[in-house]
Amino acid sequence: MDRKKVTIAQLEKMKRDNRKISMITAYDYPTATFADQVEIETILVGDSLGMVVLGYDSTVPVTMDAMIHHCQAVTRGTEYAFVLGDMPFLSYQVSVEKAIENAGRFVKEAGCDCVKLEGGSEMAPVVKAVVDAGIPVCAHIGLTPQTATKLSGFKVQGKDAESAKELVKSAKDLEAAGACMVVMECIPDRLAAKITEELNIPTIGIGAGPDCDGQVLVYHDVVGLFERFTPKFVKRYVNLAPQIREALKQYKEDVAAGTFPGPEHSFAMSEEEAAKI
Ligand code: KIV
Repeated sequence: MDRKKVTIAQLEKMKRDNRKISMITAYDYPTATFADQVEIETILVGDSLGMVVLGYDSTVPVTMDAMIHHCQAVTRGTEYAFVLGDMPFLSYQVSVEKAIENAGRFVKEAGCDCVKLEGGSEMAPVVKAVVDAGIPVCAHIGLTPQTATKLSGFKVQGKDAESAKELVKSAKDLEAAGACMVVMECIPDRLAAKITEELNIPTIGIGAGPDCDGQVLVYHDVVGLFERFTPKFVKRYVNLAPQIREALKQYKEDVAAGTFPGPEHSFAMSEEEAAKI
C-alpha cells in the first residue's frame, strides 16, 4: 500500500473519480496514529478540541497556542493523512496580516498541510491572502460553530431557497479565492448535492447528507467518548465511555484489595541482595 502523504491533487482526483474522502478529527498522538494506520485520508485538528477535550461549552475560547500544541501531537502521529489545522475564533478575522501570520504558525510550528477557517463570501479575501502566501485553505460554510450565537444557535442552515442561494454563492466565492476544499456543516442534503456538483474542489459534509465528496465526524462522537450531547448527524461506531469507566473501576478495586500489582507486574530481587539493603 502507498504510504506517501495524501496530496491536494489526490483529493481532487478522488472527487473526479467519484471516490469518497474520509476525514476524522484528532487532537492527540494516539488518535492520529490510529486514523493514519487505517488510512483515513484527512485528519482535522478541529477547534471542537475546546468542547470534547478541554471541556468548554463552545469552541470560542480555544487559543492559537492550544491549537498549535495539539496539531504538533497529531502531525507527530501522522505519515499518510493530509492534516488540517483549524484556525480558532479571532485568529483570522482581525486582519489579513494576522490571518497569514497565524495560518503560518500551523504550517511552520505544527507541520500541518492546510488550515481551515469558517465563514462565507465575506471570508474570500482572507482565504485568497492566505493561499497567496502559500498556505492551502479549507473553507467551512453552513453552521459555523464559532459564530453560532450570531446564527441564533446550532441550527440547520440554508433551509429556504434564499439562504441556500447565499451558501451556493459563498462556496463558489471561496473556491474562486483559492480554497482547496470546503467543509459544509448542517445543511440540507439537496443543497449539499448542488454545491458538490457545482464545485471543482472536494466538499466534505458533516450533517450535509450522502452526496458530498467526503464526510467528517468528530472522533469523540464516533467512539463514544463525548456524552454531553450527540447531534443527529453522528454515527457512533463504538461506545467506549462505559468500557473505560468499567476498566477504571476494576483498577481502583484491585488497588484497594491489594491484588494489583501482582508478581507479574513487579521487579524481583534475590533474597540475598534484599538482606543487604
Ligand atoms: O472543529 C471541528 O471539529 C470542525 C468539524 C466539526 C468540521 O470544524
